[in-house]
Amino acid sequence: MKRITAQYRFNKVKTYIGSGLFNKIRLFLPDGKIFVITDENVAKLYLDALKRIIPEASIYIVGAGDSYKTLTTAETIVSRLINLGFTKTDTILGFGGGMITDLSGFVAATYKRGCDFIAMPTSLLAQVDSALGGKCAVNCGKYKNQIGTYYHPRFIVVDPDFIKTLPEEEYLSGLAEIIKYGLVFDRSFFNLLFSDFSLSEVIYRSLKIKAQITAQDEFDEKERVLLNYGHTIGHAIESLSEFKVKHGIAVAVGMYYETKDEKIKHRLLKLYNHLGIGVDIPFSREAILTYVCQDKKLSGKMIRLPVLEDIGKAQIVNISVEEFMREIL
Ligand code: GLY
Repeated sequence: MKRITAQYRFNKVKTYIGSGLFNKIRLFLPDGKIFVITDENVAKLYLDALKRIIPEASIYIVGAGDSYKTLTTAETIVSRLINLGFTKTDTILGFGGGMITDLSGFVAATYKRGCDFIAMPTSLLAQVDSALGGKCAVNCGKYKNQIGTYYHPRFIVVDPDFIKTLPEEEYLSGLAEIIKYGLVFDRSFFNLLFSDFSLSEVIYRSLKIKAQITAQDEFDEKERVLLNYGHTIGHAIESLSEFKVKHGIAVAVGMYYETKDEKIKHRLLKLYNHLGIGVDIPFSREAILTYVCQDKKLSGKMIRLPVLEDIGKAQIVNISVEEFMREIL
């Protein structure tokens, strides 16, 4: 088992990474009630095992997909917690992909102004990105993550074995975020992705980068903005598709179009072809502009945008929405 520690302002978050940790999750759990939030897809595969491993836990199963990541779902879960007599020192276990870790974090952050929270991400994207760093939110209609906060899990348990049952599209979605870490922070990591890499190794390296960046800049004021590479166009595509296009797939398209340097773009496309990731942009510039204007990363009419200098090296620039549309799209 590998371990990564991220020291945030008020919290130290440990991430444990190892094959077979799901079966050992009980060893990690604190005393008190456990309330598991999961979704239909994960339940189909792992509900029986979960009940066997933590028989005393209450389990809440949400519909699968980002369209369930809403205040209404959060409120329903809170009612359930109240009925169970759940207290601040009891623990919510978010068991699923990024939608579940986001939703669980949001409920944990707001239930009685904060209760204990553990994340056990099951998708590649949630393992390498969503579960770590404290961002949690719900959507508002078709606008993604508009209602949210920062709230860290007490710890995160990453079992790469879950990836064996992940649908191809979800796997590629996670790979896109892994590519982002290489593209923006670490050229050797980017190059490794052309090889027959070990999944545990790339999950570990991704999380090391994420832990370091988010610990340096917990609240997205400086270098954490770099983690948003490709996300301006990516979020627009994701929202316009009403979440039918997976987050990472949309980010992959966004990273391609947000890369201006032709040599880097060529190398990125080569990696996408190698891994089976496409770059079709299925919406008009005008439709994307409408969404870019709603983006959380917008301050007034300016966007803080990560821009690549080279593979493994990026900086943050402030550009206007007009410039973004002219230069990038
Ligand atoms: N997924 C980007 C971040 O956590 O900042």
